[in-house]
Amino acid sequence: MAASTFMLNSDQPFHQVNNHHPESLVFDSSIIQNELNIPKEFIWPDHEKPCSNTPQLDVPLIDIGGFLSGDPIAAEKASNLVRQACREHGFFLVVNHGVDVNLISDAHKFMDLFFDLPLNEKQKAQRKLGQHCGYASSFTGRFSSKLPWKETLSFEHSNTKTSSTMVEDYFTCALGQDYAKLGKLYQEYSDAMSTLSLGIMELLAISLGVNRYHFKNFFDESTSIVRLNYYPTCRKPELTLGTGPHCDPTSLTILHQDDVGGLEVFVDNQWWSILPNLNAFVVNLGDTFMALSNGKYKSCLHRAVVNSQSPRKSLAFFLCPQKDKEVRPPKELVDQKNPRIYPDFTWSTLLQFTQKHYRADMNTLEAFSAWLPTLNNTEQLGDGHV
Ligand code: OGA
Ligand code: NI
Repeated sequence: MAASTFMLNSDQPFHQVNNHHPESLVFDSSIIQNELNIPKEFIWPDHEKPCSNTPQLDVPLIDIGGFLSGDPIAAEKASNLVRQACREHGFFLVVNHGVDVNLISDAHKFMDLFFDLPLNEKQKAQRKLGQHCGYASSFTGRFSSKLPWKETLSFEHSNTKTSSTMVEDYFTCALGQDYAKLGKLYQEYSDAMSTLSLGIMELLAISLGVNRYHFKNFFDESTSIVRLNYYPTCRKPELTLGTGPHCDPTSLTILHQDDVGGLEVFVDNQWWSILPNLNAFVVNLGDTFMALSNGKYKSCLHRAVVNSQSPRKSLAFFLCPQKDKEVRPPKELVDQKNPRIYPDFTWSTLLQFTQKHYRADMNTLEAFSAWLPTLNNTEQLGDGHV
């Protein structure tokens, strides 16, 4: 369906939204999905274009049911699999995770509902430049090349008691009372992801041989980010990418992908696909956890490809530390043989770096470590974006 308030012509998939920034153009998926001439901003250089016949990555399917119900043998078994996967690439799947299947399927249904809305309705929640919450499509970002073929809706979730309705409130504030039901559902989904992420933090601690509650406590009272990813179909999927190669700068990502497929991970110098499994969540470590583990565990480059047949959806929960808490590995992970690899930093500074100075890639943490000492005190105080 076309965006009703704009004068659109089907030959012109983009339109200007801001006279002051003529480069601010909008991606209207209802139009661009039929476009045979892919705009150059979406065409990736040859060496980054998607590959055909990507082999399947052998990621462990970890049953965490026993661990969640307190069985120490099951916990040990699960943590061994977690250790192996995190040393190799940082990706694994969890099943028997305790999250209600109806909640997951409703979260997908409501995504269809939201992304099928006319553009001007979605734009009520428009994400502003420099912010990380709201509705975004490619041209609302700060880049003008190698653009992702997707639309997203992002919002924050807090696991503190005093902000227990943060997600619900976001939906009604940004989109209006008609969206209260969506807000309630995503509040419930985000709460479930927060609980699951803290459980996985316990498993990660066991696997690293540190105090079982160390990371769980570290992430207590934190504000995380939830992102709904909607990838429209593309008439020339071999030229484009749904999400370009990146490492998540956050700590832990819990992703639920639908049955379409498209997630790929870069391991041993090549791209591998992660096959959809509706019963499982895909879990991956982010840069902040790589720093917390003193480099023992990997945050791996990944991307999403699109296709010409079916739109694809995924829901991502990004666990983040409290903004001003120092990110530093526990003492058990540092000794003479294993000196510190990354400097102390706060999540707020890393987020600022990835939003204003650097496009997250496989070298984010190295680039950030080099940039950090050049940061002056005024900038360190931040400007409220985070
Ligand atoms: C992300 C991401 C992959 C996917 O949102 O950070 O990597 O399959 N998504 O949607
Ligand atoms: Ni990612």
